[in-house]
Amino acid sequence: MQKQQKPIVVLGAGVIGLSIAYTLSSEPSNKISIVARDMPEHHLDSQGWASPWAGANWSPIGGFDERTYKWETLTFNKLWDMVPTGLVMHLPSRVYHEDPQALSSIWWKDIVRNFRVLPSEDLPPGVGLGLAFTTISTKPARYLRWMKTELVSRGVEFISKSVGSIEEAAALGGTDSIVINATGLVSSHCAAHSVVGSRSLLGVEDLNVYPIRGQTTIVEAPHVKTCVSVVSNALFQSSEEATYIIPRPDGSVILGGTFQSDNWNTSVDHKVVRRIFERCTALQPDLLPSRGTTILSHNVGLRPARKGGPRVEIETIQLPLSSNFVPSHGEGERQARALTVIHAYGFGPAGYQNSWGVASEVAELVASL
Ligand SMILES: Cc1cc2nc3c(=O)[nH]c(=O)nc-3n(C[C@H](O)[C@H](O)[C@H](O)COP(=O)(O)OP(=O)(O)OC[C@H]3O[C@@H](n4cnc5c(N)ncnc54)[C@H](O)[C@@H]3O)c2cc1C
Ligand SMILES: *[C@@H]1O[C@H](CO)[C@@H](O)[C@H](O)[C@H]1NC(C)=O
Ligand SMILES: *[C@@H]1O[C@H](CO)[C@@H](O)[C@H](O)[C@H]1NC(C)=O
Repeated sequence: MQKQQKPIVVLGAGVIGLSIAYTLSSEPSNKISIVARDMPEHHLDSQGWASPWAGANWSPIGGFDERTYKWETLTFNKLWDMVPTGLVMHLPSRVYHEDPQALSSIWWKDIVRNFRVLPSEDLPPGVGLGLAFTTISTKPARYLRWMKTELVSRGVEFISKSVGSIEEAAALGGTDSIVINATGLVSSHCAAHSVVGSRSLLGVEDLNVYPIRGQTTIVEAPHVKTCVSVVSNALFQSSEEATYIIPRPDGSVILGGTFQSDNWNTSVDHKVVRRIFERCTALQPDLLPSRGTTILSHNVGLRPARKGGPRVEIETIQLPLSSNFVPSHGEGERQARALTVIHAYGFGPAGYQNSWGVASEVAELVASL
């Protein structure tokens, strides 16, 4: 029996909200709108969201986690299949570890392609283990714009709006809508950091959400074709800084970078610029200006992280929300009803590489309602 479809409001137009809307729109009977403050074509310079500032490639992050493994396998394969569109490219890649014993804990061999262990004579000084493989990378601005164009052509409606609560988002979808909460990083810090948004709590504040500040430099260097990242190596890493070089499909290369937890500062730190450049050119001398590399920009983005990991689950919220949570939005009667919310936020450094897997899980949750 065909179920009656409810309107779906996706709150957030970052890589997560867009991928969810894309997957849900494969079912033509779903009526989908995306409500967001930052949108792919107009706000690619805004630091109020994370998606424009990403690498963005697939790279190994952290230890094995079953849920993430599933998301990333699906996402990797989907992005690999998107290479013919020109939005995504195959990327030869190297990861360097200090400790040769790290090989026993490599859980991601089967996600990537052409995985192999490099002979020790091919490794730079101080590196005990070098792994080579082929991964994928994309250029966020192009990717996000393309996603929006695709979604518009599939009949998804885009509503440019900053909302004060989940309830307000639900009202935009009509009396029986469900809401997908893909808002990334909603801060309680906003008095000091108005860039992240209104002092909105979106109904109920999740205190586990926090930023991981990422500063990067983007250069034009089409002659640099290999991705390199250094894991756990004192020469190339401190508690808040790592070293990575990610070539992208358009000939630019992103150099990183910082991982500064709970740091909301969106200004470029020039001491960090210098350290990034020194470490990256030491690993890859072709990045030196004398070899034809030019600097395009220095950037800061805030990764929307969550203590305890990403939140992907259904919650039923009773409306109206108590009024101390909700700034009044003056549109007459507030509806009393049970609102189904599906949360999809807190992906920290891995929103792109989790995206299609998360979208497919959310689609299963929607289908289960
Ligand atoms: C330097 C850096 C490098 C990175 N590299 C990689 C990488 O290589 N690979 C990878 O997978 N990930 C990478 N990331 C992480 C990735 O960028 C994020 O995980 C991802 O962009 C999160 O997407 P999102 O859709 O959850 O959130 P966001 O992109 O932050 O989008 C949130 C959306 O919600 C909207 N919103 C929020 N509040 C409201 C409101 N009140 N009303 C209306 N709309 C609202 C925003 O306007 C926006 O549209 C990197 C991040 C940084 C900063
Ligand atoms: C929606 O997501 C944000 C994270 O961006 C979170 O802080 C908030 O609590 C969520 N909303 C609800 C109603 O749970
Ligand atoms: C933010 O960072 C900039 C650049 O490093 C620095 O000058 C400024 O003082 C910082 N601001 C705050 C509030 O820490």
